[in-house]
Amino acid sequence: MNTTIDIQIKQTSQSKLPGTDFENLSFGQVMSDHMFVADYKNGEWQDFRVEPYGPLNLNPANATLHYGQSVFEGLKAYKDDHNNVLIFRPDANQRRLNESADRLCIPQIPEEIFMEGLRKLLEVDRDWIPNKPGCSLYIRPFIFATDDYLGIRPSATYKFMIFTCPVGHYYAKPVSVKVETNFTRAAEGGTGQAKAAGNYAGSLYPAQIAQRQGYDQLLWTDGKSHQNIEESGTMNVMFIINDTLITAPTSKGTILKGITRDSVLTLAKEKGLKIEERFLTVDELKESLDNNSLQEAFGTGTAATIAHIHKINVGDKDYDLPEKPADSFSYQVLETLDAIKYGRQEDTHGWITKV
Ligand code: COI
Repeated sequence: MNTTIDIQIKQTSQSKLPGTDFENLSFGQVMSDHMFVADYKNGEWQDFRVEPYGPLNLNPANATLHYGQSVFEGLKAYKDDHNNVLIFRPDANQRRLNESADRLCIPQIPEEIFMEGLRKLLEVDRDWIPNKPGCSLYIRPFIFATDDYLGIRPSATYKFMIFTCPVGHYYAKPVSVKVETNFTRAAEGGTGQAKAAGNYAGSLYPAQIAQRQGYDQLLWTDGKSHQNIEESGTMNVMFIINDTLITAPTSKGTILKGITRDSVLTLAKEKGLKIEERFLTVDELKESLDNNSLQEAFGTGTAATIAHIHKINVGDKDYDLPEKPADSFSYQVLETLDAIKYGRQEDTHGWITKV
């Protein structure tokens, strides 16, 4: 794609690269040197720039701080063996960002601003993309309201920004989860499908209770009956019972339309696995644990890719899932996804954008 927008570049005079330990990358702690910024005012996006990563100057009356009019995305860039930079499904993230924005009355980001801003940022911070197995550059695009106004209405001004951080594994080992039947992540008609900042704030308290009880994450259930399993922590969740992969449908507006979810379902279909996009009930989950028909359970998301679940608490009982062999579906699909992302396997789905 030719550059269609004019992006000003101001390079940092003090790169943090020499002080960054690429051997011990954790998730989201070290940010790369630069960020892309665009401002929305007078009804249009303008003032496109890549500048040194740094603090923002916000007034205390900033609308986002009070009312949470803010949406975000997460995607990753990789380096292949020839040092090419490969981004995984950025077009899908751009579309989802706009769907989230729509729900929060935030203006749309045109594709060329998203893509050209991202390309330019990765060009400037190319050396921040790790080239070690299991490591990648996590990319965080987001849009937030910038009006200084305490009345409740959609802001007239916004910032669109992208910054990045080199990351290792999100979960170093399989996770334990607890079925949550008291608190709710999302309700029908709410904002559950949007990647809205407030959804994550509301999930912290129930997750903290579970963590104090010794579990890593929650298995969220629906807000009405608390019988239908929806997501796990900040991820979509999949179960393989007997020979069928079951995952919650996105049609009710309570489930994030995960890009990893979609990629895993595509690969599962190609592999000939039976798939049911429907709600698994808590009773069904318990039954499958009691009669050992639950073969695999795992979360899917950009940050974790696949998070294997090794323990599930349901109905006040802990169930340990047997360790999965390397030929299990979730391990194989992770291998396939990694092979595509790192350019070791042909990208037959058009998922990779090379920059
Ligand atoms: C992602 O997987 O990209 C997520 O959104 C999780 C994030 C909140 C850390």
